[in-house]
Amino acid sequence: MKTVKNYISYIVLVLVGFTLLPELIFAQIPSKIPDALTVIHSRKSVRKYLDKPVSKEQIEILLRAGMAAPTAGDKRPWSFVVISDPALLDTLSFSSRGTRMLSEAAVAIAVCGDKNAGFRSEVWVQDCSAASENILLAAEAIGLGAVWTGIYLNEEPTKYVKRVLGLPESVYALNIISIGYPTGVDKPKNKWDPSRFHWIKW
Ligand SMILES: Cc1cc2nc3c(=O)[nH]c(=O)nc-3n(C[C@H](O)[C@H](O)[C@H](O)COP(=O)(O)O)c2cc1C
Repeated sequence: MKTVKNYISYIVLVLVGFTLLPELIFAQIPSKIPDALTVIHSRKSVRKYLDKPVSKEQIEILLRAGMAAPTAGDKRPWSFVVISDPALLDTLSFSSRGTRMLSEAAVAIAVCGDKNAGFRSEVWVQDCSAASENILLAAEAIGLGAVWTGIYLNEEPTKYVKRVLGLPESVYALNIISIGYPTGVDKPKNKWDPSRFHWIKW
């Protein structure tokens, strides 16, 4: 009888654990995530944020989405630098004219690629772009707002970010994704343009 009781208690404990743990871990994650197409069409560059922190769990969701992206030869030449220190965000906001919103962001992710780690030279840019879009979409999906700020190919910002983040010799920041809770002022654009596609041949 005692064994049956123990067995039942064990099952109850496991069930409670399974139902409560995700609730605790994902406390700030909306319980209902919109479907993929809704997320794609709702995504917009968000440059204005509420003064509200973003949790480690939310950041991990974004990083997992980034690392789920496809890469040439499955080389995954990326590294992600998470910046949550307000002073560092402020310093990075001076990277270029396009990075000013970083000073107001809750967090940022610098999507970096190793020139020597991709399938071939410069393919890392495409790999890291795929990861970046995944991060932007994941942010939209969990109720955050984000914007891609371009770093790579702009000489001064590239050098500045490399120095500030202490990136190794062969590693470059493709962009810095600025993230926070949206104020609601940034809206998605309708970019559908039937004149921009061709059936079969140009
Ligand atoms: C390669 C690239 C570089 C970008 N650089 C910046 C930037 O430096 N600053 C910025 O505010 N937005 C930047 N953006 C965001 C674009 O301005 C934005 O995607 C575009 O205006 C379309 O708006 P949407 O994202 O709301 O659809 C960049 C986007 C891409 C893809």
